[in-house]
Amino acid sequence: MAELALRGGQPVRTIPFPDSIVHDEREEEQVLEVVRSGNWGGGIGAKKNAALAELFARQQDAAYCIPVSSGTAALEVALEALGVGPGDEVIVPAYTWIATPLSALSIGALAVFADVDRATFNIDPADIERKITPRTRAIVPVHWGGRPCDLDAIIEIGTRHGIPILEDAAQAHGAKWRGRGVGAIGAAGTFSFQQSKTITAGEGGAITTNDAAIAERAASIANCGRIRPEDTHLTENPLGHNYRLNELSAALLLAQLSRLDELADRRDANARVLDTELGSIAGLRTRPRDERIDRSAQYLYLFRYDPTGFGGLSRDEFARAMQAEGIPCFAGAGSLVYRSPLLNATPRNTAALLLSDRPIDYRQTRCPEAERLAAEALYVPHRVLMGTSLDVADVIAAARKVQAHASELVPATVR
Ligand SMILES: Cc1ncc(COP(=O)(O)O)c(C=O)c1O
Repeated sequence: MAELALRGGQPVRTIPFPDSIVHDEREEEQVLEVVRSGNWGGGIGAKKNAALAELFARQQDAAYCIPVSSGTAALEVALEALGVGPGDEVIVPAYTWIATPLSALSIGALAVFADVDRATFNIDPADIERKITPRTRAIVPVHWGGRPCDLDAIIEIGTRHGIPILEDAAQAHGAKWRGRGVGAIGAAGTFSFQQSKTITAGEGGAITTNDAAIAERAASIANCGRIRPEDTHLTENPLGHNYRLNELSAALLLAQLSRLDELADRRDANARVLDTELGSIAGLRTRPRDERIDRSAQYLYLFRYDPTGFGGLSRDEFARAMQAEGIPCFAGAGSLVYRSPLLNATPRNTAALLLSDRPIDYRQTRCPEAERLAAEALYVPHRVLMGTSLDVADVIAAARKVQAHASELVPATVR
């Protein structure tokens, strides 16, 4: 087989993969319409917001959708709408994006970390159960990389303990669990439309729910405490923010939504090929299929790396070799969020720590499975899955090539 690109050989792939953001005249027409309308805000008379709320709710099989300015804002608003407040505890996965725990801290609650299942990268229901205390007011599973969590087990735990489930579906647009869109299978769900997501307006977010009271509270909290956009006065709710989504973003998202199903199907079909082919390479472990998942959103194509299958080649060197072969392949994506300095005695979390009668020193937190996962995880971004089967074949060819030549990259001292 040809020499590794890292050692001067010809790369497997020299042409780029598709761009992350897909757009055409649909986005241009939508935005132009808003520009010409003279109504650019997300409050009174926001027609694009209203249309987006209706269509995105339908997309995710939810009765209600409240568009907001980001996925982080969506989490804060949804937690508040569920009644979470100062001194309460919110269970989140140890391996996620920092916004999941920070949203709890931002409203004066404590984030409590549950370990993950390394095979799926998702929160481990058994560890959720162990982390429940009389203070627990919400459980926030994250559909990591767009793969639905085990919602059967998580909802059963929440129901038994009387604790609402808030699905962090920031990465899971279009994902389906047992025939239903994620995001309103628990009490509520949140989405992000930030730049890197599979549908995007650059920034943006949404809350979904089937519960009319949660929807009304969320809409009010996101809109300065107003009950309805037309209200000119603030209500008794003192916790209102302006987290509205502007009309230009809502217009972009309407166009983006029109191709969500088609692109999600294509990514999931390509991911199935990678599951089989990468999974057959010693040292690479792909996520197992779960027949309850009808469609995984495949925002990140994730797999785990074991250096012993590559003669001791480190994960970072494997990723570097893949990149040299023309494949965007990176270590990580998620991180051990409890290690983030943002959680340690910053002014932001002091209120939460002071109000809790069970203060948590996050430096003492240990979630062993998440720690192992953080050292093993690799991903390729969703744009790699938006091409044809030939594009996906390049990923497989590159992984096989790196394996065949791995010994050339391992220093003699390691061997
Ligand atoms: C799992 C998860 N939760 C929350 C967020 C926050 O979304 P945003 O960046 O739109 O605030 C993200 C965004 O990357 C995310 O991946």
